[in-house]
Amino acid sequence: MLEVINVCKTYKKPGLFSTERQSILKNVSFSMEENTCMGIIGESGSGKSTLGRLILGIEKPDSGKILLEGKDVKKAKVRQGVMSAVFQDYSASINPNRTVYQAIKEPMDVLGKYNDENMVEGLLCQVGLDGSFLNRYQHELSGGEAQRVCIARAISTNPRFLLLDEAISSLDVSVQVQVLDLLKELRKMHKMSYLFITHDIQAAAYICDRFLIFNSGMIVEQTSVDHISEVKEEYTKKLLNAVITV
Ligand SMILES: Nc1ncnc2c1ncn2[C@@H]1O[C@H](COP(=O)(O)OP(=O)(O)O)[C@@H](O)[C@H]1O
Ligand SMILES: [Mg+2]
Repeated sequence: MLEVINVCKTYKKPGLFSTERQSILKNVSFSMEENTCMGIIGESGSGKSTLGRLILGIEKPDSGKILLEGKDVKKAKVRQGVMSAVFQDYSASINPNRTVYQAIKEPMDVLGKYNDENMVEGLLCQVGLDGSFLNRYQHELSGGEAQRVCIARAISTNPRFLLLDEAISSLDVSVQVQVLDLLKELRKMHKMSYLFITHDIQAAAYICDRFLIFNSGMIVEQTSVDHISEVKEEYTKKLLNAVITV
């Protein structure tokens, strides 16, 4: 489904007159099968969101390739209607001047897939909300409700691939589990593949089949959820221990 091949990315170092570049992604390669949930786990600043933006085609790699179903994601046509994303900051993801109805309808409108209001209500129902939310604005939603609206919006175009970048990290712990359960259910129902980007190894273990452990812009280890206790890298052990001692 998704192939990331020798991807490198640098950014200019901060500072007005700086000409030096900082290497953010160093020769990243991995592939993902159809209908799986792959986790990308790493500490803050390790380059996860940068990788996410490259996969979504928002930015271009300096070198290397990213293929979705064999085609380069830099072409908008390859991504459209196939990929979608949910980010950490749900308040920035929904325009404050739009109602829930308008927010969910928009991506379908863009692709000419919108027929009637029942579609929006059906999507709300899939994410555990009802018709009473249709005319609400973002400020009238709790964090969990707003993130559910973002999920409904993301799946409205029937994508086969969903990228979730710290999608539950801003939510209260009790709400995190509810949203993870919802994501699990939706994945089964729609046969989607997820790329679940997070610093939270516990959340990743709850939802993912496989993980990539990411450190300083490199994949240091790959493992499946069944073999997580057999990880070899010190860095992965450190991440795991941090969870176990909490
Ligand atoms: N547009 C940008 N310009 C310059 N540096 C950036 C840019 N985006 C991210 N960075 C830097 O790249 C590094 C990795 O960031 P990011 O991909 O957001 O990591 P993560 O999502 O793992 O926390 C950070 O040091 C960050 O400051
Ligand atoms: Mg990030």
